[in-house]
Amino acid sequence: MSEQDKKPPTPTPTGLGFRRGLTNYGDPKFSIYLRRSFARSMGYSREMLDKPIVGICHSASGYNNCHRDMPALIDAVKRGVLAAGALPIDFPTISLGETFLTPTSLKYRNLMSMDVEEMIRAQPMDAVVLIGGCDKTVPAQLMGAASADIPTVQVVTGPMSTSRYKSERLGACTDCRRFWATYRAGKITDAEIDQVEGRLASTTGTCAVMGTASTMASIAEALGMMPAGAAAVPAVDADRLRIAEASGKLAVSLMGSDMRPSKIITEKSVENALRVLLAIGGSTNAIIHLTAIAGRLGIKIDLKRLNALSDTTPVLVDLKPSGSGYMEDLAAAGGVPAVMRELKPLLHLDCITITGETIGERIDAWEPWVDRNVVRPLKEPLQAVGGLVALFGNLAPNGAILKRAAADSALFEKEGRCVVFESLEDLSNRIDAPDLDVTADDILVLKNAGPMSEACMPEAGYLPIPKKLAAAGVKDIMRISDARMSGTAFGSVILHVSPDSASGGTLALVENGDRIRLSVSKRSLELLVDEKTLAARRAKRPPAPPPAVRGHSWLHDQFMTQAEEGCDFSFLKKEGACSGKV
Ligand code: FES
Repeated sequence: MSEQDKKPPTPTPTGLGFRRGLTNYGDPKFSIYLRRSFARSMGYSREMLDKPIVGICHSASGYNNCHRDMPALIDAVKRGVLAAGALPIDFPTISLGETFLTPTSLKYRNLMSMDVEEMIRAQPMDAVVLIGGCDKTVPAQLMGAASADIPTVQVVTGPMSTSRYKSERLGACTDCRRFWATYRAGKITDAEIDQVEGRLASTTGTCAVMGTASTMASIAEALGMMPAGAAAVPAVDADRLRIAEASGKLAVSLMGSDMRPSKIITEKSVENALRVLLAIGGSTNAIIHLTAIAGRLGIKIDLKRLNALSDTTPVLVDLKPSGSGYMEDLAAAGGVPAVMRELKPLLHLDCITITGETIGERIDAWEPWVDRNVVRPLKEPLQAVGGLVALFGNLAPNGAILKRAAADSALFEKEGRCVVFESLEDLSNRIDAPDLDVTADDILVLKNAGPMSEACMPEAGYLPIPKKLAAAGVKDIMRISDARMSGTAFGSVILHVSPDSASGGTLALVENGDRIRLSVSKRSLELLVDEKTLAARRAKRPPAPPPAVRGHSWLHDQFMTQAEEGCDFSFLKKEGACSGKV
């Protein structure tokens, strides 16, 4: 008897297929007859129409370079679904290409999540495979799928491969910023920066470093929402297609089971994901996104708990922007399972994953080889404590985030004079002015770039070093704002100050020349201005601009929450924050 013959027969997949969620004409038999009739116009045989269905929720778009190879991934998922005996049907949703959206992709993440949730629920499918990649797409897909709560498998497009500029290895987008800073400092020419521009992103896939997309892929894997090892495999590798095929098969096996997001994404698995986020030196944006995903299932992430986890989770992975490697190096080094194996004593090993095994079983089954240049042992970490830390104080009563792994620790305990920019426009008008009164010892403060601002929390928290300081060789300066920062950026940057200035937080009251005291060891961020003066400034604030009167911007203005709430719309969280029907 061959090995093949010994295997138990594959069970016939079960599911309602096209009979699920009928369009209401007042006669269910007519509804299925009509639905099948229209489906037949797509060339399906009657046999196919009787099969259970895996929906393939994808975000391909000509406006999203990171999703360039999505058609091939969709085909591979379909292959897996068909091989397992079900019918694959793909459908598009909104796609968010990070650099193609104004004012910023965050503004549309919740809208995309609503599209994902409603289309999963409204269309007939027994399980769904999500295919995302670029920064906001995976969070939006997981948020929507968590709310729809049917069996779900996440697939990502995978990271770009690096290219070369002269003898240097290049990858979007930490190197984008590094070269741009060099150009701003007058150290390379227009012709050179043009050549670099053409080399930074030279394959399909998501940014090549541990930016937000790679962090969210790692988090999806750590949560258990994708197969082991699936996060880091490069976009151009044939394994990426094999993962998509396997995910299609997996989705079929989940049909009719209770393996839904609500079973996989739990308080414990969210804590595992936070540990992984800290150990990989991941993006600050991931705190917002993971909070939003967890919030869809009623799980709250407490920033004080984040600090406790950060103090006990070392940075183990040596990738840019905090370290030196690229995602392709992590894939070759053993991927996320190799990181989780190091974290084993700190993880909840009994969390169940979408493939049916526990996190502990996944770790034990993973190939034992690991490249120690990329994934350090728990006892010899890259940094003794986690990459992110939350700060609190009168400037940020609800918290602010510092990516200490990518910051200059010489600036962690400091008091400095504020150089204030009232808005992004003010910043771009004055940051390079030769007469800007600024020294390397000052603190740059940017207002009106938080979630409630018109700019909707862009990745502008990485304020450029004023040109005259950059030209003098200054490489870092403390910066504070209510904005976000790209996961590919680095520097001493305090972000997500909450409440933000547009909603009247203390940040709105900071004036030029005020002093701020920062203590990372005490987790504190204090504006050294007395309460009476602050009250007087508050009384003089101009009235807030009127909210939008229609469309998605109206929803945003009415229901957007602050960073510590994940910037989700309040009515989309599990517990609901709206009165009335939602
Ligand atoms: Fe899409 Fe960086 S621009 S992941």
